Amino acid sequence: MKPGLLEVMRMNRICRMVLATCLGSFILVIFYFQIMRRSPFGVDICCRKGSRSPLQELYNPTQLELSNTAVLHQMRRDQVIDTCRANSIVSRKRRVLTPNDLKHLVVDEDHELIYCYVPKVACTNWKRLMMVLTGRGKYSDPMEIPANEAHVSANLKTLNQYSIPEINHRLKSYMKFLFVREPFERLVSAYRNKFTQKYNTSFHKRYGTKIIRRQRKNATQEALRKGDDVKFEEFVAYLIDPHTQREEPFNEHWQTVYSLCHPCHIHYDLVGKYETLEEDSNYVLQLAGVGSYLKFPTYAKSTRTTDEMTTEFFQNISSEHQTQLYEVYKLDFLMFNYSVPSYLKLE
Ligand SMILES: *[C@@H]1O[C@H](CO)[C@@H](O)[C@H](O)[C@H]1NC(C)=O
Ligand SMILES: *[C@@H]1O[C@H](CO)[C@@H](O)[C@H](O)[C@H]1NC(C)=O
Ligand SMILES: *[C@@H]1O[C@H](CO)[C@@H](O)[C@H](O)[C@H]1NC(C)=O
Ligand SMILES: *[C@@H]1O[C@H](CO)[C@@H](O)[C@H](O)[C@H]1NC(C)=O
Repeated sequence: MKPGLLEVMRMNRICRMVLATCLGSFILVIFYFQIMRRSPFGVDICCRKGSRSPLQELYNPTQLELSNTAVLHQMRRDQVIDTCRANSIVSRKRRVLTPNDLKHLVVDEDHELIYCYVPKVACTNWKRLMMVLTGRGKYSDPMEIPANEAHVSANLKTLNQYSIPEINHRLKSYMKFLFVREPFERLVSAYRNKFTQKYNTSFHKRYGTKIIRRQRKNATQEALRKGDDVKFEEFVAYLIDPHTQREEPFNEHWQTVYSLCHPCHIHYDLVGKYETLEEDSNYVLQLAGVGSYLKFPTYAKSTRTTDEMTTEFFQNISSEHQTQLYEVYKLDFLMFNYSVPSYLKLE
């Protein structure tokens, strides 16, 4: 952050403090009662405690215990920057971002946070947390928010809804973070969730029918109509078919993190990992100054896709297709420091 900007922020804060003492007590009492009626945590969740922003806390930690974590996250940031440079993504695609590229960036003005959500990487729980953080006391427990509620787009504000100067200001002074996961584990998780479960037919109709029509010889009329029995092999064949991405961008559940969050154009301050989800999430909450009473929800992981499961799914994929699929997701592997899976047979 530029020193000039810091000065302005400090002045703003002094002004606010003075004002608060003059006008404060009366208004505060009313305000307090209004908020307390809604939630016992209301006051805390509403407004950042103390004067340091999450960005300052991240880059210049006051608590000694956070210093080691800060080093780890510096390494993760460097890895992203190095990968972007090595693949000359920054210079090759010298295009500017358009508001449409910012649809996945959820904004929390009260705590100065921006979260880029990636489906299949704990995004429901992180959206719930963002609703608690931006709810000004409406919610205190993230798990009280139903999952489908967390995915209603009107419940969270995204960066594309602001004006250009507002976007730039927020990109500069808010702490930007995202959560990533081993790319093929995420892919298998998406496949299992969207194609092997009967409860929601919209993916079967929208994508399943298309995949079967294109990838299955001698498909039955029923399969062509329902699209509800897509094999993992067929799903992979669909993903590596150059025709697919020419036609339209991948669905967000299997789109690369690189294309959803633009990490070579937006400098993420913090890269959280699914493999250390709770630790990294609670670190974000700590930086935001809410860590003492808001924690990442722990939940049963019995159905979650594991490395062993992923290995099994890939056994049926030819090495030619494995190689092509790795090419599609290569940048996500490199950028977020995931090694080539040992089960792959690359050509
Ligand atoms: C990348 O991963 C390796 C091994 O998994 C680890 O030793 C190394 O510290 C990681 N590097 C970064 C930048 O995270
Ligand atoms: C089915 O999936 C679609 C697309 O993700 C979603 O809009 C819809 O709400 C889902 N329906 C149910 C019943 O889960
Ligand atoms: C498709 O079905 C026909 C007739 O049943 C059969 O002769 C042919 O071998 C099948 N083709 C494939 C690729 O399975
Ligand atoms: C792999 O292929 C075999 C034979 O087609 C099939 O029975 C099995 O279910 C497949 N495994 C996975 C994980 O898709």
